[in-house]
Amino acid sequence: MRQTKYWNVQNTINEEIRKHALEEAAEWIRKGETIAFPTETVYGLGANALSDTAISRIFVAKGRPSDNPLIVHIANQEQLQDVAKSIPPLAQKIIDAFWPGPITVIVPASSQLATKVTAGLDTVGVRMPSHSVALELIRLAGVPIAAPSANRSGKPSPTQADHVAHDLDGKIAGILDGGVTGVGVESTVVDTTGEHAVLLRPGGISKEQLVELLGGVDEDPALTKANETPKSPGMKYRHYAPSAPVYLVKGDKERLIDKVKAAQKEGKHVGVIATEEHASFFSGADALAVIGSRSQLSTIAHGLYTALRTMDEANVDLIYCETFTREGIGLAIMNRLMKAANGQVI
Ligand code: TXA
Ligand code: MG
Repeated sequence: MRQTKYWNVQNTINEEIRKHALEEAAEWIRKGETIAFPTETVYGLGANALSDTAISRIFVAKGRPSDNPLIVHIANQEQLQDVAKSIPPLAQKIIDAFWPGPITVIVPASSQLATKVTAGLDTVGVRMPSHSVALELIRLAGVPIAAPSANRSGKPSPTQADHVAHDLDGKIAGILDGGVTGVGVESTVVDTTGEHAVLLRPGGISKEQLVELLGGVDEDPALTKANETPKSPGMKYRHYAPSAPVYLVKGDKERLIDKVKAAQKEGKHVGVIATEEHASFFSGADALAVIGSRSQLSTIAHGLYTALRTMDEANVDLIYCETFTREGIGLAIMNRLMKAANGQVI
């Protein structure tokens, strides 16, 4: 165990204090320490992407399998030279359209990178986040920062500093608390090293936005078929999951109401993850998490991981959750829910 330092860098904080905190955190990154910081998607656990000693601390703190490569974060396009060997034209198009923002491009990796960042692959995932704290931290550190989501491996990604503290307090050097993140699910991951762009992980930038930009995009077959091995190593693990089993319930709310009653009749404690529109029907559930409004999918993405974490804390035997359209950000929402549910749709 070690002492984890907390810095409040929310917008309400005095500018001098905020600046001093960011400078201190950046110095620790340069020294090879691990610092959690907010991005517009989820909190990341950052370390110097050029140092293998620093990167190994990320894997230890998270309990992350070493075959799962990290995303490298940069603050300006000049830094791409330290990270990528070359920039395929497809990547440049995506970068010009969506950076800074919630999309990661897979490109050929520079030999300068710590080998643990790429898990031995010859490609690397890189993105420029749009959160001011993330950008300022990278700029002050002066090095690209590798950062997976700042959760214990297998748990839902953190969307607020409390979530990071819950999972990693005593295991990392510091946490920059920038308040609740915006998007709520991770960045879109796109492989740009082949002839066509391939969607490896749906995220903050929608598939429709990519299709509009590029004219089309392939999908990693593993996104829709359970027996395929994903091209993005991280996608093969059960993930984003509370400890009780999660079931996604198809159809209307009446079916979900019946399922809850039936399970309770068998003596089970039932948790429900429901939208604002339907929450009042589940006041009899043993635990209830309200995720957002069906009328605005972005609010569902924003509240998704907090809901999964609430259920992880609740003492329930099983968790039922509503299902959503796969349009827009809905594709990322359903991808994460399917992982949390281990594919169990009833
Ligand atoms: O929004 C995000 O992307 C957040 C914030 C912190 O930026 N980061 C994040 O990192 O979600 P992580 O490590 O939890 O997820 C990275 C994903 C994993 O599925 C990993 O396997 C994949 O990106 N990935 C990284 N490098 C890759 C590569 N060279 N080829 C294929 N997939 C890669
Ligand atoms: Mg993650």
